[in-house]
Amino acid sequence: MGEQPERNLGLELVRATEAAALSAARWIGRGEKEAGDQAAVDAMRLLLSTVRMDGVIVIGEGEKDNAPMLYNGERVGNGRGPTVDVAVDPVEGTNLLAQGINNAIAIVGLSPQGAMWRPGPAFYMDKLIVGPEAAEQVDLDAPVAANLQAIAGAKGIRVEEVTVVILNRPRNADKITAVRQAGARVRLISDGDVAPALMAALPDTGIDAVMGIGGTPEGVITACALHGLGGDIQGRLAPQKEDERQRLAEAGIDAGRKLGLADLASGEDHTFAATGITQGDFLRGVRYTPTGAITHSLVIRSRSGTWRVIESHHRWEKLMQISSVLYR
Ligand code: FBP
Repeated sequence: MGEQPERNLGLELVRATEAAALSAARWIGRGEKEAGDQAAVDAMRLLLSTVRMDGVIVIGEGEKDNAPMLYNGERVGNGRGPTVDVAVDPVEGTNLLAQGINNAIAIVGLSPQGAMWRPGPAFYMDKLIVGPEAAEQVDLDAPVAANLQAIAGAKGIRVEEVTVVILNRPRNADKITAVRQAGARVRLISDGDVAPALMAALPDTGIDAVMGIGGTPEGVITACALHGLGGDIQGRLAPQKEDERQRLAEAGIDAGRKLGLADLASGEDHTFAATGITQGDFLRGVRYTPTGAITHSLVIRSRSGTWRVIESHHRWEKLMQISSVLYR
């Protein structure tokens, strides 16, 4: 007898990322990142309460004192399903949202309880993210040029044809120079390194890798997605200020340790959903129709390695019956 098909929580989670995106989209380009984030948080929280899981937020909006909703440690879900760690980022790229720039997305990731790495006081991480072809071929500690050779070789292209996304920050200046000197192409971004990480692992997106120092929580969420897409992330904490260094030491976290995919999200059972808010290179942004809006989402389940792209057509009248937070 064959295996029984299992539930796919991602298909429930995507309603939460859709709701966050629909709410946040009202704030695109309005220069108010806090208000946009809050709208997304309210909507995501409402829909997460319907998901059949007993979840605890491991990566959320911050500590309870500063974040009244979706704070780290908050229980989410309807309390009846599997016990899971939950990572939420209702707006990944709040500046992108406020300025109306491409690739702001709403995200939720789930892992079995205890499987997600707790970033604690670790804000920044040096990352190397590649897709499935190059997953076994690169090493964070190898020279940038060697990794670019490996990526090119694994993908059957020339180094000159490799495109690496890097956050445009002074702290990444050496990395940018190294990639350029090796002959590859750099795509600089102002914010939001999760969307390009997804693209590095998805076929035919024109993005081959993400390198450089970005957010640690974003690295953990990325790991959750990569388990299903088949790519790899390697990272090492990269505290940028003395107080971050000190807090890591106080928490007993070894900042020098190289972290792999299995350190950031262990085991095999991870679920990920993301919905485009602003127009994106892979996920389209929220678009309006006379009767409602259209959203575009990605759902990944690592147990099966299935990923789905979902276009949903929403009707305002129906959303309004659920709650006004979805349509302000
Ligand atoms: P927010 O969504 O919290 O604004 O963060 C977006 C982001 O650009 C991440 O994608 C990235 O990993 C991190 O911030 C980089 O941090 P910083 O802006 O401090 O360099």
